[in-house]
Amino acid sequence: MPRPRATLAALPLLLLLLVPGGRGAGRCPAPCRCAGHLVACSRRELSRVPERLPRGAVQDLSHNRFYSVNTNSLDHLHSLREVKLNNNELEAIPNLGPVSTNITLLSLTSNKIFNILSEHLKPFQNLETLDLSNNNISELKMSSFPSLQLKYLYINSNRITSMEPGSFDNLSSTLQVLKLNRNKISAIPQKMFKLSHLQHLELSRNKIKKIDGLTFQGLPALKSLKLQRNGVTRLMDGAFWGLTSMEVLQLDHNNLTEVTKGWLYGLLMLQQLHLSQNAISRISPDAWEFCQKLSELDLTFNHLARLDDSSFVGLSLLVGLYIGNNKVNYIADCAFRGLSSLQTLDLKNNEISWTIEDMNGAFSGLDKLKKLILQGNRIRSITKKAFSGLDALEHLDLSNNAIMSVQGNAFLQMKKLKELHLNTSSLLCDCQLKWLPQWVSENNFQNFVNASCAHPQPLKGRSIFAVSLDTFVCDDFPKPQITVQPETQSAIKGSNLSFVCSAASSSDSPMTFAWKKDNELLHDAEMENYAHLRAQGGEVMEYTTILRLRNVEFSNEGKYQCVISNHFGSSYSVKAKLTVNSKYVLTFVSCHFVTLPNLILCILDHV
Ligand SMILES: *[C@@H]1O[C@H](CO)[C@@H](O)[C@H](O)[C@H]1NC(C)=O
Ligand SMILES: *[C@@H]1O[C@H](CO)[C@@H](O)[C@H](O)[C@H]1NC(C)=O
Ligand SMILES: *[C@@H]1O[C@H](CO)[C@@H](O)[C@H](O)[C@H]1NC(C)=O
Ligand SMILES: *[C@@H]1O[C@H](CO)[C@@H](O)[C@H](O)[C@H]1NC(C)=O
Ligand SMILES: *[C@@H]1O[C@H](CO)[C@@H](O)[C@H](O)[C@H]1NC(C)=O
Ligand SMILES: *[C@@H]1O[C@H](CO)[C@@H](O)[C@H](O)[C@H]1NC(C)=O
Ligand SMILES: *[C@@H]1O[C@H](CO)[C@@H](O)[C@H](O)[C@H]1NC(C)=O
Repeated sequence: MPRPRATLAALPLLLLLLVPGGRGAGRCPAPCRCAGHLVACSRRELSRVPERLPRGAVQDLSHNRFYSVNTNSLDHLHSLREVKLNNNELEAIPNLGPVSTNITLLSLTSNKIFNILSEHLKPFQNLETLDLSNNNISELKMSSFPSLQLKYLYINSNRITSMEPGSFDNLSSTLQVLKLNRNKISAIPQKMFKLSHLQHLELSRNKIKKIDGLTFQGLPALKSLKLQRNGVTRLMDGAFWGLTSMEVLQLDHNNLTEVTKGWLYGLLMLQQLHLSQNAISRISPDAWEFCQKLSELDLTFNHLARLDDSSFVGLSLLVGLYIGNNKVNYIADCAFRGLSSLQTLDLKNNEISWTIEDMNGAFSGLDKLKKLILQGNRIRSITKKAFSGLDALEHLDLSNNAIMSVQGNAFLQMKKLKELHLNTSSLLCDCQLKWLPQWVSENNFQNFVNASCAHPQPLKGRSIFAVSLDTFVCDDFPKPQITVQPETQSAIKGSNLSFVCSAASSSDSPMTFAWKKDNELLHDAEMENYAHLRAQGGEVMEYTTILRLRNVEFSNEGKYQCVISNHFGSSYSVKAKLTVNSKYVLTFVSCHFVTLPNLILCILDHV
């Protein structure tokens, strides 16, 4: 495949021969250009290294056509330390003659090197940095690396498909950074990495689909591991076991479906976990048992639909939680309990509605939360309890929700609020909303608020700031209002029962009815719904929904709630509790007698 020369030529001038402490002696060899300590011999179409390179200068030999290096041209450069021969035609690690032993940095990117041979590297006894990126290397073998002082090894963008276990063993006492991004590695053999000083390992953009347990054993000092864009589908239990110092794990752009403690096992120091752009739909209840130091968790662009009360248990040091662009529609009452250090919670572009519309303090316990992002959800109304507990909040983003109503006290306890983002053109501009324009101006939030009315008809499309206060009146009530609440009841196992719920509205917009049990929608509920004109009160329609439960089991126990919605919003009834008792059958009566003074008691034994 031809290399894209044009792109490479646009690289910045990082391709230099570097001689520290140079004294800029000698004339400038043609056709190089010299200026002070810099001798630029790059992009000169050279096929040989120029003779008599000035001693002690900074030189650039990149972007030429060297197939090899004529070593005698370098012999006199006793203080040569850094050699950059990028973008040439080298097919092997070049022989640089006696000066090799002093070289600490050798950069050979964008050549045609196709193997790494021990005998080619041996002369570089003081080499600390070796960059072989953008070459044609296809395998790493036991015979590749002799003992060197190498600290930084970069072999990105080659064609490596196989790595022999032990390939890096001779670098174990020095290597700190190893980059193998953009290769074709599909499996990491057991005992591949025994590098006790390695701090950073990069394996992004390979083809590693599965990681077995104990794969990274032998890397006790590793601080960060990059495994993005591999298409990883399975992380076996103990996949990262042994990485006891690891702080940052990047697994973005893979195909993971679940977070479990099995694969997180042993990551005791982990501070940042990046799982964006996977297919995660489940966080197992005890997932974080071993990761209690976590401070940043990125789960954006996944498939999470539920945040259960156990989803984040144990993450008391978590500072940033990013769950944007998922499908979250269910948030358990205590989903965020225990996140006592959390400062940023990003829930943008999900399907959240009733958490804010109906729940009592979904966010309670988040005492330190400063930033809450709920942009792009399905929130239509905000009750006064929606944000209770968020006393430290400074930044609240509710933009891109078609919000219709906001109760008066909703933001009152947020004494530190500095930014409130709101843009909606769906507001129901009635007496209940009268407080909003004034409150927004008093708090200087106008710059972040773009709010206009959808109802009543005469105000449609008008900004709330352009409507005079006495126009916010309650002539009608288009949003459903619950008039009959379902009642708490107890039933005998096997019996039939029903819950009844009604709501009234002055609007003729179509109503939809739903029932929830323990906050979750009942999808196959047996319901009867009907509408009738309210007896008194003229033209007001009342709507009733009846939920029928037949042959009840203990599993039917729970809290039932109706949700009645129309174009103007949803109303949530109280939660009515159902208890189910076992059948009470008196097959025979046996009596056991207790004799007290002057009294004989018969105590019935039930069967
Ligand atoms: C290596 O560097 C030392 C110290 O600068 C110098 O004395 C020696 O000549 C150099 N070796 C070679 C082979 O250039
Ligand atoms: C890479 O090496 C292979 C042989 O291993 C060779 O066929 C191919 O032409 C080389 N590619 C480049 C760009 O040098
Ligand atoms: C690695 O080091 C061992 C022990 O020093 C040596 O025997 C072996 O030849 C080295 N490997 C390479 C490829 O040089
Ligand atoms: C992820 O998995 C799905 C199905 O399991 C597959 O269709 C998709 O191509 C995979 N994506 C990647 C990036 O491997
Ligand atoms: C709210 O703002 C976003 C951009 O920030 C825009 O895409 C969206 O259409 C706006 N929504 C409304 C209702 O104005
Ligand atoms: C407010 O939102 C409307 C659409 O709902 C849009 O046309 C208008 O440009 C927005 N104004 C500002 C200042 O963002
Ligand atoms: C419950 O309803 C079912 C179905 O309508 C009916 O067959 C059954 O007799 C009822 N059970 C009781 C105890 O009324």
